Amino acid sequence: MDSSENDVARPLLVLDQLPLESYWDIPLYQWNGFWYRAYHLEAALALRSQFKVRPDDIILASPMKTGTTWLKALALSIMRRHCYGDENIHRADEDPLVKNHPAFYVQTLEVQVFTAKPPPDVSAMQSPRLFHTHLPYSELPDSIKESNCKIVYIARNPKDTLVSTWHFLNHLRTSEQGPYPFEKAFECFCKGVSHFGPFFEHVLQYWKESLKNPERILFLKYEELKRDTKGKVKELASFLGRPFAKEEEVEDVAWRCSLERLKNLEVNKNGVDPWVGMRNSTFFRKGEVGDWKSMFTPEMRDKLDEITRLKLEGSGLNL
Ligand code: A3P
Repeated sequence: MDSSENDVARPLLVLDQLPLESYWDIPLYQWNGFWYRAYHLEAALALRSQFKVRPDDIILASPMKTGTTWLKALALSIMRRHCYGDENIHRADEDPLVKNHPAFYVQTLEVQVFTAKPPPDVSAMQSPRLFHTHLPYSELPDSIKESNCKIVYIARNPKDTLVSTWHFLNHLRTSEQGPYPFEKAFECFCKGVSHFGPFFEHVLQYWKESLKNPERILFLKYEELKRDTKGKVKELASFLGRPFAKEEEVEDVAWRCSLERLKNLEVNKNGVDPWVGMRNSTFFRKGEVGDWKSMFTPEMRDKLDEITRLKLEGSGLNL
């Protein structure tokens, strides 16, 4: 497909007719209730019109900074673990994570795949394919929503998500710009303005779908994955149809994907992503539950706790 054909296949997007907000001095556009960078929105529309799902695809989904990289590493390790073999438990030779950042293998559809013109030919990938998306459930292509492919979502408590986002996005600022004022980032988050946000509506959409269809959508929480890594890794593997036979295997996957290990791999210490040139190390920071305490004032805590309570009231979800 040449680029002109590809342009024809892309829906026409008239950005100046959409609601606009400045988020971290970057324009975000509102589309069907959610906020996007222009190129993410364009890619999301291309994804909706062009992606051909397979019933055995696995789609990982998340808001930003809720443990996406960890989930990518875990899903990849679970799906590929037959390659290591029993004798290779705790050996690195065949481990793809040693060679590349997890995002290299599990690409984010609207960030790494459909932003390219033309997009790479994902139909050539071997099944079962693993993809990731930050898109809200309502904006997934109908083909995904109507198929039986499995979806795994990861959520995180909103205060830590905000602090993690603040550290991450500061890496994209120049030294002249300096860190973005945390108070402003906090106000945006409370107003629901963030990449692929509002955060709570994003989480609630997947939560409700997971209740309706637990065989198809697994809802994970970052904090539970931290607290009971082996238990949740087993649950994930069973959900993906690859249950573990031995406890040793569970330990192996948990170890391969641990923050301590990934953070210290050469590729993640010094590597750079091939898409936007971001350092791999920016995806691995502290991974602590409760890190929000380092940034929040008591007033901020009370305000966001109250928003969280009101948003999640009656849903059965606690974050
Ligand atoms: P912190 O900024 O709180 O440290 P995402 O992958 O969605 O961008 O989320 C990034 C957050 O997940 C960061 O949180 C990062 O440190 C943490 N993280 C990355 N890899 C992890 C892993 N293997 N285990 C636990 N946490 C991880």
